[in-house]
Amino acid sequence: MGHHRLAVIPGDGIGPEVTDAALAVLDAAEQRFGFSTERTTVSLGADRYLESGELLPDEAVAELRSNDAILFGAIGSPKVTPGILEHGVILAMRAAMTQAVNLRPVRLYPGVPTPIAGLTPQRCDLVVVRENSEGAYVGRGSTVHRGTPAAVAVQESVNTWYAAHRAVDFSFRLAQQRRKKLTLCHKTNVLVEAGRLWLSVVEELSAQYPDVETDYVHVDAMCMHLPTTPERFDVVVTDNLFGDIVTDLGAVLAGGLGVAASGNLNLDGSGTSMFEPIHGSAPDIAGRGWANPAGAVLSLALALGTLGEGEAAAAVEAAAASVLSELPALAGEAMGATTEVVGQRIVDRLGEVDSDLLGGDSLMAQLAAVANA
Ligand code: IPM
Ligand code: MG
Repeated sequence: MGHHRLAVIPGDGIGPEVTDAALAVLDAAEQRFGFSTERTTVSLGADRYLESGELLPDEAVAELRSNDAILFGAIGSPKVTPGILEHGVILAMRAAMTQAVNLRPVRLYPGVPTPIAGLTPQRCDLVVVRENSEGAYVGRGSTVHRGTPAAVAVQESVNTWYAAHRAVDFSFRLAQQRRKKLTLCHKTNVLVEAGRLWLSVVEELSAQYPDVETDYVHVDAMCMHLPTTPERFDVVVTDNLFGDIVTDLGAVLAGGLGVAASGNLNLDGSGTSMFEPIHGSAPDIAGRGWANPAGAVLSLALALGTLGEGEAAAAVEAAAASVLSELPALAGEAMGATTEVVGQRIVDRLGEVDSDLLGGDSLMAQLAAVANA
């Protein structure tokens, strides 16, 4: 019977509400599938920062490192200057835990409304693998003549063969579990230096994975193809900043930020993977029960997949998908039920669903095969 140590960072705003809902689903999954977790809450975010000035202290890193997975709610508060928590906690965590890729599924579940007319679940099932450690996110640069009309701001984008290689290699392995198609998304026609590096890595690795077909799409064209022909994509690998942008668009296709999940994956055992809904802390609606817990619950499913609980992961995904299809709206008051009630419905559904409901091709289960390989 599997036993897993789970660190929980509820965070700010709606983070604690959606995390509570996800943990109730975890309780139910443990019962049904016969594994167990030991959970430790780690307080990070606006409150801790405002009280003590601490963002990601060393002892929190050590605590997180001693766990098998991290479940993260959301952080951010109007009381803290934008950028401080983002850099000091989220980006610092991705770096401290060597979370090499950010896995962001774009899957439209049956019966879930999408703003794209005529889009069907059959046509919308892809995964974006976002390089998670560098590019424009390295936080390097400088400004001279600041505050004068002569100001010059230089923001660097760092691209290493090493980080591109590990992201692309993971993407090939994931594609092998899926429909065997990998698309590189970049901007090689303008960012020629970085583009050449990424292209060469894909070319080199493609010899090792001859069963996977490769394709290339510029990031601007991706913004056109994603809403119109998402069926063209299976696994998309991309640079950190492009991945940030295209995954918000992807989330919209599949029902919005309230239901989008992500996994910041450590691929070499040197740190702990972290699972978080893509939405932020939404302080304006915190405490009202208006947040959709599905993003957090589906992030939990990703966590279960990487922990090797593939069957539980697929069942949690199926239960969340089934409940989502019945909601009159995917977020806010119009959702017609509170965060807690929606979470409870997913709990109840978990007792009924067949983990094969989505056709046995759950990404969460596919992950179980590749994340720890
Ligand atoms: C995301 C967010 C973060 C990012 C911010 C909050 C730092 O937009 O996870 O997509 O840019 O990576
Ligand atoms: Mg983003």
